This record gives sequence, structure tokens and C-alpha cells, in this order.
Amino acid sequence: MPNEVRGVIAGGKGEPVRLETVIVPDPGPGEVLVRVQASGVCHTDLHYREGAINDDFPFLLGHEAAGTIESVGDGVANVAPGDYVVIAWRAPCGACRSCLRGRPWYCFDSRNATQKMTLADGTPLSPALGIGAFAELTLVDALQAVKVNPAARPEAAGLIGCGIMAGLGAALNTAQVGRGDSVAVIGCGGVGDAAIAGSRLGGAHTIIAVDVDERKLEWAKDFGATHTVNASNTDPVEAIRELTNGNGVDVAIDAVGTPQTYEQAFYARDLAGTVVLVGVPNPEMRIDLPLLEVFGRGGTLKSSWYGDCLPTRDFPLYIDLYLQGRLDLDRFVSETIAIDDVEEAFHRIERGEVLRSVVVF
Ligand SMILES: NC(=O)c1ccc[n+]([C@@H]2O[C@H](COP(=O)([O-])OP(=O)(O)OC[C@H]3O[C@@H](n4cnc5c(N)ncnc54)[C@H](O)[C@@H]3O)[C@@H](O)[C@H]2O)c1
Ligand SMILES: [Zn+2]
Ligand SMILES: [Zn+2]
Repeated sequence: MPNEVRGVIAGGKGEPVRLETVIVPDPGPGEVLVRVQASGVCHTDLHYREGAINDDFPFLLGHEAAGTIESVGDGVANVAPGDYVVIAWRAPCGACRSCLRGRPWYCFDSRNATQKMTLADGTPLSPALGIGAFAELTLVDALQAVKVNPAARPEAAGLIGCGIMAGLGAALNTAQVGRGDSVAVIGCGGVGDAAIAGSRLGGAHTIIAVDVDERKLEWAKDFGATHTVNASNTDPVEAIRELTNGNGVDVAIDAVGTPQTYEQAFYARDLAGTVVLVGVPNPEMRIDLPLLEVFGRGGTLKSSWYGDCLPTRDFPLYIDLYLQGRLDLDRFVSETIAIDDVEEAFHRIERGEVLRSVVVF
């Protein structure tokens, strides 16, 4: 029998989100129903409601979640009812050309539930990133549900499901930050601060945090920034060069995703350095770089989707580091909120007041 729950719906471009009844089918073959315990508010949810990702309204938002398996469909072997899981928006198919070449973190056909969750009138919903976790129950592919140590509290554990994994992985997987590297991270929200934490875990020697908000720079120090640059009153490229003997950094991570910040990352890196774009640009954005500089500076220009993570490998690992006190996930949780407070939480993101507001159920 289908389940009726409340969910946070983005009904149209730029419209405030609203709480509506969502019909969640029981799991079919290969699907699982997850009882969501906590779900973080990521800037990507805001991008969805602004129509910056695609036009497939209405969206069921929410995608950084931890919870327990409520029920499983036929043929599900990786999880059972009661298991504690973090939901992943990447579940490699094992059969696409990338999976077959041994690079499942680029999977081009990642798994999602086949049945649709709907509004009460039957309108099908597009779940954000194939998850839709601002709802008491959500339906996902079984392979999206990744078991982790239940000792990790859901408010913290769920964050590994998107932004924090994206930042950690941008540093550790995409850029492969290693011992002695210098790193600059532009944009110190949840994603940028996770890139800073990842750079520290990887052994970076110099970690320069860049933001336009002084509060964010203070918080960035807690995650491992060795230097801070306020880009609202200082040229970040000049400042980063000064802090690196005039050379620039080995790795520059753009965790904002605008032409301006990308260009700063491009020029703030050392010769043969690496630029990683992890912030999500909107469809209108363009960059204009001298091709000779692209050639002459050498190195690597990369994008990082979800920190090039493999959820089944990486989620349990980072949850264990959290439980060992080596990765402070609690520090990302600025506040816990109720499900009817998501619209206000978006405004707190816009005003720069939070790293993560986390909906608890
Ligand atoms: N690639 C991925 O897989 C992935 C995953 C999750 C989120 N994201 C994206 O990462 C980005 C950051 O997400 P978040 O949740 O941390 O957002 P956020 O809004 O919490 O943080 C953004 C930060 O950038 C700062 N900022 C804005 N303009 C700036 C500028 N010109 N120079 C320096 N700093 C500036 C803001 O003050 C803020 O601290 C978003 O675009 C989000 O969609 C990407
Ligand atoms: Zn695949
Ligand atoms: Zn996200």
C-alpha cells in the first residue's frame, strides 16, 4: 500500500518551497524505502528551486540524508529492514562504458528508483539528485543505500551523502592532495570547508581559505585553513601568490562555481598545478580565457562531481574517521530545523549564516 508523507516541494522557478502530501510507493524489485532521520540543506537544493539545474518541476527536494531501511523490494541483498544507511546520489550501474573500464565514479548510468513518487493528485515528482529526502520516507534504488556505523548521529552522517563528500573528494580524490601540497579553496560554505578538511587529511602544508564573508573565514580555520583571504577587499590571486613565494598553489579548488571564481582559481595556481571546479555554475555562465595561458601553464583543469567518490568505499570510511575524532562532521551542523523551515533555511544560506541547516524528523 502506498505511503502518505509530507515532503518539501519546489513547484516552479524561484517560487518559495511548500510542504505537500507526497505519495511514496512501496518498494518494487531492487528498490528500498528509507525512513529519513536527518537531511541537510545543500546549496544544490536552492539551485533546483531556482531552476538552475533543469526545468523538471515539481521537485521533491533534499538529498543529504541518513536514515533506516523501512522495507525492501524483491531481489534486494545489500540492505535489510532496520539497517542504518546514508543515501547516495551515485550508485554505479556496473555496465556502462565507464564502469566497464574500471572507473565507476564516473558512472554514466547511475541507478535510481524506477517507480515515481507523486503528489496526491498523481503528478510525478522529480526527486533532487534522484533522492528526495525532505520527506519522512523516500524511495531509492537499493544500491543508493549505503550502510554505515550506526554510532554516527544522523545529523552528521547524512552530510556525507552530498556536500561534505563532494568537498572531501574534490581534494582527496579529484585533486589528489598529498603531503606538502599547497591548496587554495575559494568559497568556504559546507563544500569548501570540507575541501579544506580533506586537504588537511591529505597532508597539505598550506591551506588558503578564500571567501567574501569574514564569518566564513573564521569557521574555515576550524577545519584546517592556515591562511584566510577576504576576496571582498583583497585580490585573491595576488594574495595567494604572496602566500606561496610568488608561485601560486599546487591545487586551486573553486567551491563557488562562477566565471569570476573559476578565473581566480585558474590564475592562483602554480605552473603545472591543478584546478578543480566543484561549485555548480548556472546554464548562462561562460568563461573567456586566453588559450595560450591554458597551454602555457600546463597542469590539469578538472571538474569534480560528488568528489569522484565511490559511496560504498568512501561513506563508511569517512564515518569511521568521524567516530575516531579525525573528521569533525558535527562542526558542519550549524542548526537543526523542522521540515517546514526549509524555505527560511535557504535565506540563511543566501545571507551566509550557516554551513548546514539539517532537517531532523
Ligand atoms: N560538484 C558537486 O558534486 C557538488 C556537490 C554539492 C554542492 N555543490 C555545489 O557547491 C557549491 C557550494 O555549495 P555549499 O553548499 O557549500 O554553498 P554555500 O552557499 O554554503 O557556500 C558558498 C560560499 O561561497 C562564498 N562565496 C560566494 N561568492 C564568492 C566569491 N565571489 N568569492 C569567494 N567566496 C564566495 C559564500 O560566502 C559562501 O561561504 C554550490 O554551487 C553547490 O551547488 C557541488
Ligand atoms: Zn556505470
Ligand atoms: Zn548537495
